[in-house]
Amino acid sequence: MSVTLPIYLDHNATTPVDPRVLEEMLPYFTEKFGNAASRNHQFGWAAEEAVDRARAQAASLIGASSKEIIWTSGSTESNNLAIKGGAAMYEKAPRTAESGRGHIITSAIEHKAVLDPVKRLMREGFDATFLEPPADGIVRREHVEAAMREDTILVSIMWANNEMGTLNDVPEIGALCRDRGVLFHTDATQWVGKMPTDVERDNIDLLSWSGHKIYGPKGVGALYVRRRKPRVRLVAIQDGGGHERGFRSGTLNVTGIVGFGKACELCEQEMDQDRERLLALRQKLERSIHEQLDVVQINGHPERRLPQTTNISFGFVEGESLMMGMKGIAVSSGSACTSASLEPSYVLKAIGVGDELAHSSLRFGLGRITTEQEIDYTIEQVVAAVNHLRAMSPLYDMHKEGIDISKIEWSHH
Ligand SMILES: Cc1ncc(COP(=O)(O)O)c(C=O)c1O
Repeated sequence: MSVTLPIYLDHNATTPVDPRVLEEMLPYFTEKFGNAASRNHQFGWAAEEAVDRARAQAASLIGASSKEIIWTSGSTESNNLAIKGGAAMYEKAPRTAESGRGHIITSAIEHKAVLDPVKRLMREGFDATFLEPPADGIVRREHVEAAMREDTILVSIMWANNEMGTLNDVPEIGALCRDRGVLFHTDATQWVGKMPTDVERDNIDLLSWSGHKIYGPKGVGALYVRRRKPRVRLVAIQDGGGHERGFRSGTLNVTGIVGFGKACELCEQEMDQDRERLLALRQKLERSIHEQLDVVQINGHPERRLPQTTNISFGFVEGESLMMGMKGIAVSSGSACTSASLEPSYVLKAIGVGDELAHSSLRFGLGRITTEQEIDYTIEQVVAAVNHLRAMSPLYDMHKEGIDISKIEWSHH
């Protein structure tokens, strides 16, 4: 079997730039270097034209109109603008000591780029509910409905979870918010470009996504802001030249935006075939691991997940040791963004996975460049590494002898 090492299976953390995207971007570094805000000469017009084209490509991918796309530096900024800008615009007035500025509903399994802006708003007088989904990891309409209050002003629920790939009831939650007249934002960073999106059908007011998760460049993202039924307004969080209809000042990253647009176009064209191919590979990976190893668990709902993501706990094996034991395979234990610390993943904890199993989990993120040979090699490596580590584990031996380890009373001397 011929594979080139290392193998990249961490596409939820970031994706490579598609060569077709790079090719589109290159002229905008050099001969087409104009500022899209320069309205009085050709250099500016060429840049503006390129930005407009990208805006149409981005809008088309999510069923929006070009005017509803605001360029940002990525999903972190899009989320901050949607949440802080939305809360400031729709806060309850007049504010009194008894009634806070308004209530926000989000979930405990969001990315930090949602959790932390909401926590900051709490310090500034807003109230918030962090929904904890059940063991299948899915946030549903009824969870949001039960948390709704008179003073709820904003709901922010991610579409696909970055650690497990589980898919929340976003269209249904959107419909609920629409009924109640509450602003609805979704962090769709892991969803858009992989799954079909239509902001009209799916009842979305604000939607964040990012270039580097869809085979575009890093440092560029977009926020969809609904313009009709209802017209959504936001308070800008960055002041300056009034670019992007005043929502986001700052000279546009023309090169990045051109890449983002092209990446959106390719996703729209190739999504269906990528999805089918990657789902088959992911299922092969899961099935083979299940057949060859015992005490493994797929975290989150077994089917309602992104086609290319799986998060697996391997009992009696430490995730970090397993990663070391697999030769030449780049995966992630916990979330890439929190793996600097060795805390078990807060996402897995929130759905009730115990510390032990959370520490033993790996996320496999397949992508456009993943081949079947790479998956076959990965299966071999995972099985060999798990067997090797378990051979050194007295706890695994006890488990095999039928001893229930959770019931053992360890003596302390
Ligand atoms: C769900 C989710 N939201 C937000 C982000 C942050 O995106 P960006 O890197 O574009 O700021 C990520 C990236 O890991 C993500 O997975």
